[in-house]
Amino acid sequence: MKSCIDVDFSMAALDPAAAAQLQGDLDSARKKLYSGNEAFTGWVSVAKRRDLAEIERMRVAAERIKTQCEALVVVGIGGSYLGARAAYEMLAGSFANERAAVERQPEGVRLYFAGQNISAAYHRELLEVLADRDICVCVISKSGTTAEPSIAFALLKDELVKRYGEKGAAERIYAVTDASRGVLREEADANGYESFIVPDDIGGRYSFLTPVGLLPLAAAGFDPEHFLDGAEAAMDDGSLMEQAGNYAVGRNVLYNAGKYIEVFEAYEPRFAYFSEWLKQLFGESEGKDGKGIFPASLAFTTDLHSMGQFLQDGTPCFFETILEECEPAAELVVPASAGPPLAGKRLGDVNRAALEGVAAAHRKAGVPLFRVAIREKISPQTFGQMVYFFETACALSAYMMDVCPFDQPGVEEYKREMRERL
Ligand code: PA5
Repeated sequence: MKSCIDVDFSMAALDPAAAAQLQGDLDSARKKLYSGNEAFTGWVSVAKRRDLAEIERMRVAAERIKTQCEALVVVGIGGSYLGARAAYEMLAGSFANERAAVERQPEGVRLYFAGQNISAAYHRELLEVLADRDICVCVISKSGTTAEPSIAFALLKDELVKRYGEKGAAERIYAVTDASRGVLREEADANGYESFIVPDDIGGRYSFLTPVGLLPLAAAGFDPEHFLDGAEAAMDDGSLMEQAGNYAVGRNVLYNAGKYIEVFEAYEPRFAYFSEWLKQLFGESEGKDGKGIFPASLAFTTDLHSMGQFLQDGTPCFFETILEECEPAAELVVPASAGPPLAGKRLGDVNRAALEGVAAAHRKAGVPLFRVAIREKISPQTFGQMVYFFETACALSAYMMDVCPFDQPGVEEYKREMRERL
């Protein structure tokens, strides 16, 4: 099956000899990833061997959430947060929560996010915003012990109990956590929360295609299977998987040539959290043992007016990966009052001219560029494809650097140091 993603390597200026030298590493990385012997590689086939009973349970829970509340607070951090937020913003738009339910496509509850920081101000403001709306809470933590979501969950639980009583609160809490370990699992079982499992063989940042990402989005009105369909299409598209490997090779060629930073760039504000998701995926997967490409992101054209100078003319320590939305979600025409050359042009065409112009200017300055084009309108299916493409490329690239893509010893270390201080 053909997916809708294409990678253009023509502006990456890769040294063919250096790329050829890495083919053996790519082959070994592929063998490892698909061997079935590596821990935490369950995400590779999660879309294909989908658990239909679990998906049905998610749909039923989502329908129940819709009858219970107008706002679902999704509590989680890192891999237990970014995928759902990225999808919600990309699919429901930058102003999803401000638009009336009937205007949003598709109809579902509004999603709010908590537990991704330790800010009293943020959580107080959130509780204020939610004061006059019925709420449910979806708490997501694989370990069940992470400080940030534990704090937010405790605050929100208090709020639920105050409003709905102990029993009512328990009926409004949905937990996504480990099958048998952790405080959250114990609490969910003891209190009868509706709960879903983060599979043992899938780590945080690779868990979007499990209830971690799919349950909140089901409540927001999206069908979980559509994301899985997209991931499966990507998996079955031999040419796309080939391109994922070539992208992994290209990244490593540039890294070996001293390009230590990858800047992800998108020209649509609704891609902002997808860039955040990418940063976590690549940063936590590759950044270890003194190695790794530092992932950064910029929102264009906004950041051209702050970072454009550096990109064009600053230290040549980076390469760029452009995320191109080929079918804009909406179209507007610039009114006549804007004058030439803008008047009468479609915004999509102006945005495209910016993308092409910036790419050409940066290329002239010697910056290597990858262009990842999404050729169909953004939908849950295309989102699933994007997730699967980047997860595959990232895992292969990390293996090629000879690091484990699936652990995060550095994250564990700071958590331990912080706990000591508490
Ligand atoms: O990718 C990861 O594993 C991490 O970013 C975790 O998702 C994050 O630390 C949250 O962990 P948990 O789901 O255990 O609360």
